Amino acid sequence: MQSIVILISGGGSNMAALVRAAQHEDWASRYGARVAAVISNRVDAGGLRWAQEQGIATQTIAHQDFADRAQFDAALAQAVASYADGAKPPLLLLAGFMRILTPGFVQAHAGQLINIHPSLLPAFTGLHTHERAIAAGCKFAGATVHRVTEVLDEGAILEQSVVPVLPDDDAHSLAARVLATEHVIYPRAVRKLLAAGLS
Ligand code: GRF
Repeated sequence: MQSIVILISGGGSNMAALVRAAQHEDWASRYGARVAAVISNRVDAGGLRWAQEQGIATQTIAHQDFADRAQFDAALAQAVASYADGAKPPLLLLAGFMRILTPGFVQAHAGQLINIHPSLLPAFTGLHTHERAIAAGCKFAGATVHRVTEVLDEGAILEQSVVPVLPDDDAHSLAARVLATEHVIYPRAVRKLLAAGLS
């Protein structure tokens, strides 16, 4: 069985979309894949409770408990490895996970790491994407599912969604429009990887 481990920091709506897709589309029998765990770096991440209610293992690794990024990432790597099921290492899905991973962690998990970013990459890497898209006068915005490399919000693009930026939009309304599309493209990207056996 291919384990999937989802990393969150907050509400976890992308995590929930992935879990629902795995349930409704029966990824276990179709692709031999299951969501084995949800890991948060914040104890107050709202998504943890929802995941528990789904019967999924949850774990908090609070980043402030560690002296530096390398130590946090070492603990994270150990936790992730513990959810492996069989020979394949877990697929690691970053879903609103607000920590930058060290190059060492990224290298050790090459090919396993996927992220979703709320902009049309390569535009607007980093934070405050919606404010910046509006300030730049963009007519369209969107989200990107991509592989994770050592460079923030870089890496091969797997899926993108596009939404219009409307004249009255503020960052909040644009974020909500983009987020709804994230819930479609993230499961689609993972489904394609699993179907291709490329995870
Ligand atoms: C999403 O917009 C995601 O792309 C970004 O942070 C937000 C997290 O939302 N990185 P959620 O926790 O999945 O609801």
